[in-house]
Amino acid sequence: MRLGVLTGGGDAPGTNAVIRALTQALAQGQGTEVLGIEDGFLGLMERRTTPLNWPLVHGLLGQGGTFLGSSNRATPLNHEGSDRRRQVLDYAQELGLDGLVVIGGDGTLSIAAAMHSFGLPCIGVPKTIDNDIYGVERSFGFDTAVARATEAIERVQTSAQSMRRVMLVETMGRNAGWIALESGLASGADIILLPEIDFDLQAVVKTCRTREAAQRFTMICVAEGAKPRGGQTVTRAWIEDSPEPQRLGGIAALLAQQLQPQLRSEVRAVTLGHVQRGGSPTATDRVLGTHYGTAAALLVRDNAWGEMVTWTHGRIGRAPLASVAGRSRPVASDEPLLQCARALAVSLGQD
Ligand code: F6P
Repeated sequence: MRLGVLTGGGDAPGTNAVIRALTQALAQGQGTEVLGIEDGFLGLMERRTTPLNWPLVHGLLGQGGTFLGSSNRATPLNHEGSDRRRQVLDYAQELGLDGLVVIGGDGTLSIAAAMHSFGLPCIGVPKTIDNDIYGVERSFGFDTAVARATEAIERVQTSAQSMRRVMLVETMGRNAGWIALESGLASGADIILLPEIDFDLQAVVKTCRTREAAQRFTMICVAEGAKPRGGQTVTRAWIEDSPEPQRLGGIAALLAQQLQPQLRSEVRAVTLGHVQRGGSPTATDRVLGTHYGTAAALLVRDNAWGEMVTWTHGRIGRAPLASVAGRSRPVASDEPLLQCARALAVSLGQD
């Protein structure tokens, strides 16, 4: 059997552990020929591949990013106005691919589901630092992102405490606030603002004023997708040829501007950006990535084309690839961690 593997969408630490485990399990264990596709579906459109084997991948475990390269701009379904799916199908046939393992977020997995329905057998592996793929309770990359964000917020906090400032730290998390919630709790932030709970600016002001009088500094952890009640998210850029064209960013800076006139303390904003998702994965993400890669190899062995690996109730599972399309896994209103935050008197930006 000859199998292609590609990584699409934003990079996530632990992706190389998936590629490594998948290659080892298939190439050594099952005698499958594994072909790496460079830069996601773009590599299939531009005919760029590289053969994978154990000597090539065995040292990848601790490396961040994806050594195959990724892209979150090109899609074979509607690239620069023309449908390039025929190109992808023809090249896959020319390569003699029996199937394709697609490691990606909801956008990439939706493309995989579509390509599968057009005749290219696909198996999916969910990948996102945001931890918000439907049916996947823990995605690799999330633990690393939370660890990096927690460390950064703690560093900013000692400065805020010394300078008696209100400091806002902006984390990634477009539609779901898992990174902000967990890193905010882990670092002891005073206010946590999430995309799922629209905040009230005056409630944020009130908490800051109370702390000005007593502790004299405030730490606010805000997800990039957070927005005020009745307001809009802050857009950093529109990337027109991307499956998800809106790029968020700037809510921390905007909030700093709005808070400053209402507070005595100086207000500053820090955006963590790609620091959260770059660099070496934590041990947890290396193990999780290995688990996902091994599980994907089992799906291949079982000819479970059209399915993807999932993680629910602490166990690996499988679900139809198409089940993730157009869905996500936001922080639910009955999420136990929200109750923890409330019990600890962490403000979620509401009265
Ligand atoms: O989906 C993962 C993610 O890291 C989001 O949290 C963030 O909004 C987005 O990717 C950023 O993507 P890019 O690196 O393309 O700007």
